[in-house]
Amino acid sequence: MFNETAKSEGKGQVAPYVPTRPPLQDRFGRTFDYVRIAVIEQCNLRCTYCMPEEGVQFKEKDMVLRSNEIERVIKVLASMGVKKVRFTGGEPLVRPDIVDLVKYAVNTPGIKGVHLTTNGILFPKFAEPLRKAGLTGVNISLDTLHEDKFEQITRRKGIGKVMESIEMAVALGFPRVKVNVVLMRGFNENELIDFCELTKDKAVTVRFIEFMPFDAHQIWESGQHFASAADLTGQIESHYKGIKEASGTRTEHHIYQAPGYAGKIAVIPAFTRSLCGNCSRIRVTADGSIMNCLYSEEPYLLKDVMRKGGTDEDVEALFRKAFGEKHIDGFESKKAASIKAKVNVSDISRNRSSMTQIGG
Ligand code: GTP
Ligand code: 5AD
Ligand code: SF4
Repeated sequence: MFNETAKSEGKGQVAPYVPTRPPLQDRFGRTFDYVRIAVIEQCNLRCTYCMPEEGVQFKEKDMVLRSNEIERVIKVLASMGVKKVRFTGGEPLVRPDIVDLVKYAVNTPGIKGVHLTTNGILFPKFAEPLRKAGLTGVNISLDTLHEDKFEQITRRKGIGKVMESIEMAVALGFPRVKVNVVLMRGFNENELIDFCELTKDKAVTVRFIEFMPFDAHQIWESGQHFASAADLTGQIESHYKGIKEASGTRTEHHIYQAPGYAGKIAVIPAFTRSLCGNCSRIRVTADGSIMNCLYSEEPYLLKDVMRKGGTDEDVEALFRKAFGEKHIDGFESKKAASIKAKVNVSDISRNRSSMTQIGG
């Protein structure tokens, strides 16, 4: 019997967990209860919008958070009211202890949902152990439905595995299964409706993500591949006349369900950032820094605090400092980063080499 459903629906918990510490809030009154932890920088694909062919300069093993450090972060955050954990990467399934990390998070009092964002290549191998461990959701990245284009974008083979992963995730009954599509004009924009059609029979959410300039300067520079959320929602609404709005998570700022379809369709305004007002996310990078915004460049060196013998109170204090200094939205974060780096705001992402360090 899989233990996840009981826990996610609250049936397995005798009494509701009451956080022992005050919630993590910012000066605008927002509460942060969702942590995204990048557990590894390495990836088994080389998506052109993310990494150069040769990879990026990966950190030494010791520079990355160890299992007991990740567990500690989860424990401290849960005591501050964090309810949702997402493991990202790089590719999280490349990390050998990933199933144990999932188990730890699932069994942490206060944590109600444990999710994973994966490229789907190794997922068929891990699907059953992850389901048994209690993983509540899996987001699988897939940017094209064609084999030749898959190899072009990822510089590797494997579309069959990714398709298998989606089928398997649904068949094994993971409560949330999503497909992440980074939408790029001139590359996969013509597949928008084909992707939407996946939701006809499958209970998955297909999500189109605005392309962001965290691509190790591979292809963003020209600007010609960017398609805005407004553009994408326009195309969806004009194809599916009378399509209804649906409910979704906070990143799913625009979400729909076509009449009679099993799944949902969402658009994530990752670059135009209309989702910032509702921000509830905490990020921990693979090398152990806290990020208070995806567009922030301010380092909060969590790993150093832990390795210098800091107490749980010190860990908590660093999270409070990071979120006490959070800006109102991603535009302000980016502006602050550019002022600090003394560069033009449009050049700030040059400082960051790849999404593999941030985990999306
Ligand atoms: P759900 O919990 O299922 O909604 O997943 P998620 O969207 O939070 O996580 P996922 O890892 O699937 O991320 C999908 C995309 O949304 C990635 O490209 C992220 O960079 C982008 N995204 C997630 N959170 C934020 C955010 O806080 N700001 C912006 N601008 N983009 C985000
Ligand atoms: N722009 C938008 N999304 C990106 N991702 C990785 N790099 C980028 C980028 N430059 C997406 C991945 C994955 C999610 C975690 O982040 O495709 O679905
Ligand atoms: Fe939150 Fe920053 Fe993302 Fe906006 S860009 S939703 S403020 S993390």
